[in-house]
Amino acid sequence: MRIEGKNYKTIWFDKNSKNVKIIDQTKLPHEFKIKELETVKDAINAIKVMEVRGAPLIGATAAFGIVLAIKENNDLNFIKKSSEELVKARPTAINLQWAVHRVNNKISMIKSEKLFDVALNEAELICDEDEKFSEKIGKNGLKIIEEIYQKKKNTINILTHCNAGWLATIDWGTATSPIYHAHKKGIPIHIWVDETRPRNQGANLTSYELNEEGVPNTIIADNTGGILMQRGQVDMCIVGTDRTLSNGDVCNKIGTYLKALAAYDNNVPFYVALPSSTIDWNLKDSRDIPIEERDTKELSHIDGMLGENKIDSVQIYPKKSKAMNLAFDVTPAKYVTSLITEKGICDASKDGLKKLFNK
Ligand code: MRU
Repeated sequence: MRIEGKNYKTIWFDKNSKNVKIIDQTKLPHEFKIKELETVKDAINAIKVMEVRGAPLIGATAAFGIVLAIKENNDLNFIKKSSEELVKARPTAINLQWAVHRVNNKISMIKSEKLFDVALNEAELICDEDEKFSEKIGKNGLKIIEEIYQKKKNTINILTHCNAGWLATIDWGTATSPIYHAHKKGIPIHIWVDETRPRNQGANLTSYELNEEGVPNTIIADNTGGILMQRGQVDMCIVGTDRTLSNGDVCNKIGTYLKALAAYDNNVPFYVALPSSTIDWNLKDSRDIPIEERDTKELSHIDGMLGENKIDSVQIYPKKSKAMNLAFDVTPAKYVTSLITEKGICDASKDGLKKLFNK
C-alpha cells in the first residue's frame, strides 16, 4: 500500500546490508522512519516494544529473526535459544510460534553452510504467502460489502477496531483488505475508526493508512460504537484477530468483545478477517489463550507531537493510581457473523472452519 504515493511493504530483507528493514510503527503517524534490524536481539526488541505489531507481521518478523540469528552464529543451540526468545516476545498472537516452528522445521535437516539461505527463503515465502492471503481475504470480503451496497445503494459505514490494516501484515491488511478492494471498485464507504486505547492503533495507524489511500474515515473514542449502532450509523463491523480457535472463538485487541456485544444487540453484522496462519487448531478452550498484560505506562502516559518535530510522552493519570493493562480479549463465536479467510467465508464454528480448511 502507499505512503505519500509510494508503495511499501512492512518488512523486507536488504540483500546488501544483510539486515532486515521495517517501518518503525512507534513513530507513526508523526514520523515515517525505516529501521534496520541487525541481530536477533533487535528483532525480539522490535516485537516487544511494538516497532512491528499485528499478528501476521510479528510472525514474519520472528521468521526473519531466525535468519538474523543464523547470520550471527549458526550453532544449533544458539538458533534454538533465539527461537524460544522470539516466541516469548509476545504471547497472544499464534502467528509468532507458527512462523518460528515453520522456519525451524525447514532448517532441521539442513547442513550448516546452507542454513542461512534456507531460512531466508522460508521467511520470504511466509511474507509472500501472507500478502497473497491478505489480497484473497479482500476479494472474499468485498462480496459482503457489495451485497450490502446492492441493498443500501448509499455509503456503507464500516466500524473497525485496532489496526488490522496493511501495517499489521505485509500488505493489504486483513480487516482493511475488503475495505481497500471496495474503495478501488468505487463503492462509497466510510470507516468508523475506534481509537483503540491504550496504544491508539486505530487513531495512529488505521486512520493514517486509510488517509494515505484516500479512504474516508472518522476516528471515534472506543465507547462511541454502541450509540452509532443504535442510531443505524454502522452497516457492518470488520476486525482482525490474533488467534482464532477451531471452535470460532476470536481473540483480538482489548475492546473487541464489547463491540461484538453491541453489534449483536443491534443486529449489525460482525465479521472477523484472518489468514489461516492465525488459526490455533490445537487449543480447545479460549480461557487457555495467554492474554498479554502490558506495562501500565501505556495507560498512564500518552505520546504525542510536541511542537513541530519532537515526539514526547506525558503523564495523564494521578501518579499514585494503580492501573491494569490487558491487551486482548476473547469474543465468543456466537457473536461473530462469519469469518473471512483466504479460502472463503465460513461460520465461526468447528464445522465452518473444518469444511473450509479440510481439517
Ligand atoms: O497489540 P497489537 O497492535 O499487535 O494488536 C493487533 C491486533 O489486535 C490486530 O487487530 C490483530 O493482530 C490482527 S492484525 C491483522
